[in-house]
Amino acid sequence: MDRKVLVIGSGAREHALVHALRTSEARVWASPGNGGISEEAEIVDAGSWQEIRDRFADTRPLVVIGPEVPLAEGWSDGLREAGIPVVGPSQAAARLESSKRMAKEIMQRYHIPAARSRTAHSPQELAEWIRQESRWPKVFKQSRLAAGKGVVVVPNQQAAKTLLTRWAGLDAVWQDGVLYEDFLEGTELSVQVVTNGRDYRWLPVAQDYKRLTPDPESPNTGGMGAVAPALHLPVGMTETINRQVFDPIMQFLQDERLTYRGVLYAGLMMTADGPYVLEYNVRLGDPETEAIVPVLDLDWVEFWSQVAAGEVPSIPEPSRSAVAVVMAAHGYPDSPKTGMPIHLGSAQSNTLVFHAGTRRNEDDWESQGGRVLTVVGLGSTIDEARSHAYERIRHIDFPDSYYREDIGIRSTVQG
Ligand code: AMP
Ligand code: GLY
Repeated sequence: MDRKVLVIGSGAREHALVHALRTSEARVWASPGNGGISEEAEIVDAGSWQEIRDRFADTRPLVVIGPEVPLAEGWSDGLREAGIPVVGPSQAAARLESSKRMAKEIMQRYHIPAARSRTAHSPQELAEWIRQESRWPKVFKQSRLAAGKGVVVVPNQQAAKTLLTRWAGLDAVWQDGVLYEDFLEGTELSVQVVTNGRDYRWLPVAQDYKRLTPDPESPNTGGMGAVAPALHLPVGMTETINRQVFDPIMQFLQDERLTYRGVLYAGLMMTADGPYVLEYNVRLGDPETEAIVPVLDLDWVEFWSQVAAGEVPSIPEPSRSAVAVVMAAHGYPDSPKTGMPIHLGSAQSNTLVFHAGTRRNEDDWESQGGRVLTVVGLGSTIDEARSHAYERIRHIDFPDSYYREDIGIRSTVQG
């Protein structure tokens, strides 16, 4: 088989990618993968791009990089220079995600709508702003990569002081500063495009449920669920988002001559004043991917090969809807309990179970992470997909697990 792909990463997003690649007849490796992925791909454990280059010197697979950390470390540049095709932006372009401070500067420079924000470089500086503030809530964001958990919506001055006390002694929090940002109200959308840094095409729009519970004041997580395709956008909104959110970033990538072969993700807040960018990510979202990939009928090897080659393949209309529900360990996100036994039950039609933090034990499976499984229901409508997802969950025996019960309910405005 001359179709060969290596997927980098260890989450449910990568399991969804591996599963889709397998349907298009490829030999698939994953590094480092996880328990579920090991059932569908050959596992290697490479800690650096140099190890990948050496290990795959003869096979030279297409490399699809899932997570942000290897992108921020420049794996795609190293592999590309070694002549290996890669889905993923250059390290310099990955700064759009790895430094929220720099992303804000670019958004300002290119007049991209975003919340007003300034960056504190020390606890003292932030303490002074908190003391003077009269308008709450505010949003505090660590500029560095923090797995979705470095952002806190702070409802009032007292909560701000408590958070500051917690962060003040942590050097890593201050290494690239803390953004102090105005709070925006609206509905969140995840719009992702495949791009070569000049042209781009939309993947189906998804909605991510970022909070731990339906309570809007509950903590942010890496994502507790997703639906795709999400909403019908109002007439003209696609063009508005292109003009205000994506075209300027393409201009930035061109101005700076940055290499980009992959997915650009805009986390948007749809406000009464139009779309505002909350963040750019330089890769596919998780759990959005688990909902998007299964609704597209594509030859995924061909698709990602074209992206790696700098083409922007066309994307079909979604042929179904998906609702993805994350099953997390008790105690997630702060102190997830690991080692819990899991029995998945038998497979059911119209569902997929992607693994994020599992390993095989002598009996069946056990949990070994915060987000453990993403259970996806498929259907001709979101409601049908949702009922399939929750029906599948009822057949999973995972004591003490936690999941949101409202993923895909239309009345849920804000994730
Ligand atoms: P980010 O990583 O910057 O996308 O932030 C994570 C989550 O925090 C977002 O998905 C929103 O739910 C929330 N958030 C971030 N910035 C703001 C803001 N300015 N106003 C309201 N909510 C925000
Ligand atoms: N679901 C949000 C993210 O992947 O960052």
